[in-house]
Amino acid sequence: MQTRTAVLHRVGAPIAVETLDLAAPRTGEVLVRIHAAGVCHSDWHLVSGATQHPLPAALGHEGAGEVIALGPGVTRLNVGDHVSLNWAPACGTCFYCLHDSPNLCDAYLDPIWAGVMLDGETRYALRGQPVYHYCGLGCFSDYVVVPEQSCVRLDPRVPAAVAALIGCAVTTGVGAVLNTAQVKPGSSVAIFGAGGVGMSMVLGAKLAGAARIIVVDRAPAKADQALHLGATHFVPAGDDAIGEIRALTNGRGADYSFEAVGLPAVQEACLAAARPGGVIVLAGLAPMGSSTNLPGAVLTRQEKTVKGSYYGSAHPQRDFPLYASLYLDGLLDLEGLITRRYRLEEINAAYAEMLAGQVVRSVIEFEA
Ligand SMILES: NC(=O)c1ccc[n+]([C@@H]2O[C@H](COP(=O)([O-])OP(=O)(O)OC[C@H]3O[C@@H](n4cnc5c(N)ncnc54)[C@H](O)[C@@H]3O)[C@@H](O)[C@H]2O)c1
Ligand SMILES: [Zn+2]
Ligand SMILES: [Zn+2]
Repeated sequence: MQTRTAVLHRVGAPIAVETLDLAAPRTGEVLVRIHAAGVCHSDWHLVSGATQHPLPAALGHEGAGEVIALGPGVTRLNVGDHVSLNWAPACGTCFYCLHDSPNLCDAYLDPIWAGVMLDGETRYALRGQPVYHYCGLGCFSDYVVVPEQSCVRLDPRVPAAVAALIGCAVTTGVGAVLNTAQVKPGSSVAIFGAGGVGMSMVLGAKLAGAARIIVVDRAPAKADQALHLGATHFVPAGDDAIGEIRALTNGRGADYSFEAVGLPAVQEACLAAARPGGVIVLAGLAPMGSSTNLPGAVLTRQEKTVKGSYYGSAHPQRDFPLYASLYLDGLLDLEGLITRRYRLEEINAAYAEMLAGQVVRSVIEFEA
């Protein structure tokens, strides 16, 4: 069959919407009709070259839709299931899966970073040539073929755009707060970067009962958006930000400090924003090969803990339905994260607005 898909042909090029050939699902795979896909910064890292990936690549890793066909041997899903896509599928039997870290499962790492399915081939092709799948997905597309492990069934009452965000921003941001940091009630939290990931951290911090939720961003438009979602304070990024955070935390610094931008300089600011004994959580993806100055002289003397957080230390099969039910119960304002909705043809405009700091999260919606 054929599908319209957002494709990156080379670093720095505009994203092209192409009509691709899509192979039928093979053993253990399903065909999903995409209803919505979120505009996450991680795809942009391929466009900028901060993340290196085989090209041409089908972009999109924050998607949701409906299973419309099963390949042979699929056991966990049925036609008609509403699913959110998991960009870190887990095998269930490797060291990491058995040690409470399915987000770090290494069974699929090689094919995922090669942009192929488990059999080493792509399901997308353009004029007979392979088009690689970002994160084993590539879901800025009317249709995708994915392994069944990449699907998490969700309650069909969850709107598609919300289900899409659960597939990345929400799981990454809420999970960084609840799973990675395990923020305690009454604590102070500083969050650098108020995009889909950082604002999901705001929602997570509110849910965890944090007393002070201080958002730092360079875009002034983020102030009202952050306060609306539950931040208690907004601080403009810049030289004064650390002083302002200390002033809001009895001169000490935040109990927890989160980075949701992906820049070494901001990661360093995050270390300075945390109080002695505080926890720093790095969720932004800094460019591959970059390095950050997190001095041991400070870490030891001030007993600060730095944690990486990949996909919010999630168990996607457990956490996606949890976030969906918290949303349905009115405890997690996931609709509030969605600023704008676009058609697939508008994807370059959607990314331009994300880069300009105008949106919390935009979503590409597909024809029903
Ligand atoms: N760890 C993970 O598993 C994971 C998952 C998803 C996304 N990410 C990464 O998280 C980061 C954020 O993603 P997003 O989709 O929310 O991005 P986004 O572009 O929507 O938001 C980033 C925000 O950072 C702000 N910003 C930029 N430079 C800044 C600076 N110097 N100081 C303060 N604020 C600044 C921008 O104005 C924007 O509001 C990206 O690096 C993305 O790749 C990581
Ligand atoms: Zn595994
Ligand atoms: Zn993402």
